[in-house]
Amino acid sequence: MLVLCGDLTDVGRPREAEVLVEDLRACSIPIVGVLGNHDYESDRVEDVKNILKSAGVHLLNGQSYEVNGVAFVGVKGFIGGFGRRMLASFGEAVVKALVSEAVSEAMRLENSMRAVKSERAVVVLHYAPIPDTVEGEPLEIFPFLGSSRLSETIDRFKVSAVVHGHAHHGRYEGRTPRGAPVYNVAVPVEKPTGRPYALIKV
Ligand SMILES: [Fe+2]
Repeated sequence: MLVLCGDLTDVGRPREAEVLVEDLRACSIPIVGVLGNHDYESDRVEDVKNILKSAGVHLLNGQSYEVNGVAFVGVKGFIGGFGRRMLASFGEAVVKALVSEAVSEAMRLENSMRAVKSERAVVVLHYAPIPDTVEGEPLEIFPFLGSSRLSETIDRFKVSAVVHGHAHHGRYEGRTPRGAPVYNVAVPVEKPTGRPYALIKV
């Protein structure tokens, strides 16, 4: 499987999605992916989605796609921070709206995980579910790189691997509190392959 962890465009323009799709035509294996924050930038997200879908990319937004007994379950995720220091639903309406978005992404992941029948599941995210794989980024931006609400959900299920992007200066490998392996596959992150992509066996 080729798994794409979001930010498939720079600023969410349909033309950028078309360029990606032209490259993906050379790919002979199934492709799944999630969108990232960049893909929303130009308010053309439906066009971007349609272009990718028409090229056979299985975009996941609270669904799963099974290949050879492995279920790929994907959501974009959202920001909000990690552990005890996660942003709480308190105060201004806009803060509550932000927390509510993070919770709803985690719930979308939970609902799709519940529907998984396969023995093996890979969770595909854009935002990080743990702080370990964002280490290396400035501490001040940790809360904008992901949310522990995602790992809380992941840890309620048996998950073979979690992949995410978004944290360009983070670390390749980490684990959720209950031990699920997490890989930050953002292009600039150094990987054991020595290439921009990671190879993961589940
Ligand atoms: Fe991103």
